[in-house]
Amino acid sequence: MQAELKLPEPDPQSAAHSARVAAYVSNRIADAGGAISFAEYMHHVLYAPGLGYYSAGTTKFGAGGDFITAPEVSPVFGRVLARQCAEAMSATDTTEVLEFGAGTGRLAVDLIGKLAELDAVPRRYRIVEVSAELRERQRSLLDAQRPEYAGRVEWLDGMPESYAGVVVANEVLDAMPVERFIRREDEVGQVCVADAGDRFVLTERPAPDFLVRAVEDIESELGYALPDGYVSEANTAAPAWIAELAGSLEGGFVFLFDYGVSRREYYAPGRSDGWLRCHFRHLAHDDPLLLPGIQDLTAWVDFTSVAGAAVDNGLAIAGYVSQAQFLLAGGLDAELSGMTELPIDAQLELSRQVKLLTLPTEMGENFKCLGLSRESAARPTAFGVADRTISL
Ligand SMILES: C[S@@+](CC[C@H](N)C(=O)[O-])C[C@H]1O[C@@H](n2cnc3c(N)ncnc32)[C@H](O)[C@@H]1O
Repeated sequence: MQAELKLPEPDPQSAAHSARVAAYVSNRIADAGGAISFAEYMHHVLYAPGLGYYSAGTTKFGAGGDFITAPEVSPVFGRVLARQCAEAMSATDTTEVLEFGAGTGRLAVDLIGKLAELDAVPRRYRIVEVSAELRERQRSLLDAQRPEYAGRVEWLDGMPESYAGVVVANEVLDAMPVERFIRREDEVGQVCVADAGDRFVLTERPAPDFLVRAVEDIESELGYALPDGYVSEANTAAPAWIAELAGSLEGGFVFLFDYGVSRREYYAPGRSDGWLRCHFRHLAHDDPLLLPGIQDLTAWVDFTSVAGAAVDNGLAIAGYVSQAQFLLAGGLDAELSGMTELPIDAQLELSRQVKLLTLPTEMGENFKCLGLSRESAARPTAFGVADRTISL
């Protein structure tokens, strides 16, 4: 805990919204008899219809929001990814893109723009978006910036039953509600959230079977028991999501970007307080009970579990690289080749953006891209250098 952390005061409207979210969560806790699992809490504060962080109208992305994602940092991210999508569509003989959790719609705008330059505009660009508010934002941005392709963009509430084409998800896995657990000597505890009247508090109860099994699986893969009192997260929704994706994917290629590490790093004995992070107005902290509904909660991704679920469901791992490697091998140099013709201030801005995307101390190393395919589609060039699949 960062006891001395001073977060900015929310404005009155946001504070009132947070109070409504807190009342909603409080009612869910009462309905459940006094406590809900941490995963349920995370689900409500992020996704309760019309209330949760992603379902209501807070700014979220960019300078005026709480955090910044790679497509919001620079169009270069989407332009390089578009080159890779074009390669993947050509290798798999597909002509569609399916994006999960499209945020402001920025990545869709950049992907479609660059794919048009490459003469590879997808026949259909579909977006699976759980938030009605974000869906409207995406629609207005696409209408304003890619009006000529508006007819090709469609929104879906969930995964299509069958699909062949490229799949893109940037920072979606980390936004899935996670279970928090505590390893006790003889049992596993499930972290829960209870209502102390004027605030929420964390409590603990014996973990349900599915969570005990998840922790035992982690330990058996690691080859050692986690130490007594060890706290971490288990994203039990991600393997189910991958299984559903694998069930739907008839052909094509999947690009999953997120900040994450291998299982061995995720559950390293020294990492005894987990990987959950909260963001409010560009301040990162670790108190998920503050500011319900107006701060973002995210958990780093255990990429071994995602890759394992993919393989268990018949997909092949095409590569696992850092974001920096993905961009460097995927066409960043070609994207920057005309840079010297730009005015000097534009060059400096582009160089700032590229540093943010690629430096190891910024987004270059913590963010990874996991590539998945149905059988042996040729792998896009971005996975050709410094592949770390062996580390998973
Ligand atoms: C951190 S934001 C990232 C947004 C965007 N991809 C970007 O990079 O700017 C997480 C997004 O994932 C969406 N999301 C979370 N769970 C999802 C799911 N199961 N299916 C589709 N979208 C989901 C959220 O609604 C939100 O749009």
